[in-house]
Amino acid sequence: MRKDDIYADSQGPSPFEFNERVAAVFDDMIGRSVPGYRELIERLAQLCRYFYQPDSRIYDLGCSTGNLGLALCREMAGAPFRMVAVDSSRPMLDRYRERLPEGAYGEAMELVCGDVREQPLHDASVVVITLTLQFLPLADRDALLARVCRGLLPGGVLLLTEKVRQADPALENLQQEFYYRFKRERGYSELEISQKREALENVLIPETIDAHQQRLARAGFRSCDLWFKWFNFASLLARKEAP
Ligand SMILES: C[S@@+](CC[C@H](N)C(=O)[O-])C[C@H]1O[C@@H](n2cnc3c(N)ncnc32)[C@H](O)[C@@H]1O
Repeated sequence: MRKDDIYADSQGPSPFEFNERVAAVFDDMIGRSVPGYRELIERLAQLCRYFYQPDSRIYDLGCSTGNLGLALCREMAGAPFRMVAVDSSRPMLDRYRERLPEGAYGEAMELVCGDVREQPLHDASVVVITLTLQFLPLADRDALLARVCRGLLPGGVLLLTEKVRQADPALENLQQEFYYRFKRERGYSELEISQKREALENVLIPETIDAHQQRLARAGFRSCDLWFKWFNFASLLARKEAP
């Protein structure tokens, strides 16, 4: 795994992008930047298996290099499933394709290079959006989640994971402090932490858990569980009603 040293040297301000350079170090970067990432991916794969309905599809919107898809292949252990994995970054998808296991699951996984806001959903029992809604303009988020809810089969679920913020400034400071502590413990320097924070400014726009829950309700989801939380990271499971 190549080490993420993108922000190790002093550099001029430029907004963060999911380009070739980021794709090359993505797995190291996400493991050292998202607390509980491996646990999250394993549990999401287990939840995909739990809610998967026969002959349906699982959608991974903003799939990056395929950590969820690979975990799902392990989790399904030969049982049939179909997954559509979508990302707008070609370098991310190139890496995903290289990592796909040969054999049965080659055909189960469809990789699509495109915008998640335009991705049609067919026979979806599970839609996963991990750390990707946060990169869309705020104005586009309602429409995407409403389309996801409409596209899900009855009893289907959305698994939504996001970096989140607190409305209370003191609690927001606490979250930030523990988050930067986590990054320092994983070997990022103060320069790397501050340059990455600047690059993500206005690119990654986190919301409160409350804002996410309200949006899920507006989108048509009737029940929602906050099943995972680590300071400024949260994962929600929203279920579309069965008939
Ligand atoms: C932080 S990564 C997601 C991590 C990934 N879901 C995982 O589980 O490892 C965000 C991804 O969303 C993709 N992305 C951002 N905006 C997008 C859009 N509008 N349509 C499709 N993909 C998008 C980026 O290219 C990037 O690969």
